Amino acid sequence: MPDSNTPRVALVTGATGAIGKAIARRIATHPDFAVVLACRDQAKAERAVREIVTATGNPKVRYELVDVSRSAAVTALAARWRGSLHVLVNNAAVTPRRRQETPEGIELQFATNVLGYFWMVRAFTEHLQRSAPARVVNVASYWAGDLDLTDLEFQRRPYNNNEAYRQSKQADRMLTVACAERLKPFGVTVNACHPGDVRSTLSGNLGFGGSQTPDEGAQTPVWLALESAGGKQTAQYFEHGKAVRCPFGAHRVSVEALYEACLHCSPAPRDPTNDRSGGHP
Ligand SMILES: NC(=O)c1ccc[n+]([C@@H]2O[C@H](COP(=O)([O-])OP(=O)(O)OC[C@H]3O[C@@H](n4cnc5c(N)ncnc54)[C@H](OP(=O)(O)O)[C@@H]3O)[C@@H](O)[C@H]2O)c1
Repeated sequence: MPDSNTPRVALVTGATGAIGKAIARRIATHPDFAVVLACRDQAKAERAVREIVTATGNPKVRYELVDVSRSAAVTALAARWRGSLHVLVNNAAVTPRRRQETPEGIELQFATNVLGYFWMVRAFTEHLQRSAPARVVNVASYWAGDLDLTDLEFQRRPYNNNEAYRQSKQADRMLTVACAERLKPFGVTVNACHPGDVRSTLSGNLGFGGSQTPDEGAQTPVWLALESAGGKQTAQYFEHGKAVRCPFGAHRVSVEALYEACLHCSPAPRDPTNDRSGGHP
């Protein structure tokens, strides 16, 4: 058991963005939390850390560099991680107007918005289990749907960033259920939520203005990260601090098919004879 002086630790991806930075700052207002910003741009990350430390007075804020669209980068981050992890907030996402691929040849929205979440959960599973009770908050969206399991990377369909985004956010909600079920026996909850409608690079690319502030957008993710509901409930989808029935998570066959598809895009599992965790999702 950690003693009362040991901080709880939260890791927030995309914490240089509109909602991610607000999530990280709001968690850091709790002095018993250490907050790690998982970012891909060093200069932005340094600025975000300085801003959050100044705004909250919490010196236990730092960053780690990671490109979540690349499985090797996510695995490397988890491998160099030391100590506990109590809260993982998957939030980093993109909406490029033109179809792009990662150096590994994966369509960029699928790689970032879907596999990025999936890889982070898998890579940090052992850290979360060791720190249990622990939680994962997947920042998804109400703007979700039309997932095509036969064309997850828009190879057959013409690419449209809005369609690719809606599909990716449906996938986040489906994978939340698949991961939650696998991690439940180990004291790790996994929930998804819609944050809010916030003006950002991501929403601008989709042609949305956004009527809420980043702090308003951070409200439900932070509530899930900190309040008791996020530790008691799992496999749920939340809007405005309330669980909402999610048709995507309820479709078992599709959920498992998507999970399998993501596994196929993941690095080979470790040698199982060397696996002490038992709970890898
Ligand atoms: N804004 C809305 O109205 C809205 C509505 C519903 C749901 N959401 C969800 O809220 C989340 C945050 O969105 P936002 O509006 O705050 O977007 P944003 O301001 O554009 O921020 C996106 C963040 O993700 C980071 N990121 C992108 N690709 C990355 C990668 N490969 N590796 C590491 N970090 C990466 C960005 O880093 P850089 O700073 O380096 O670019 C940035 O920090 C997303 O999951 C989105 O789907 C947003």
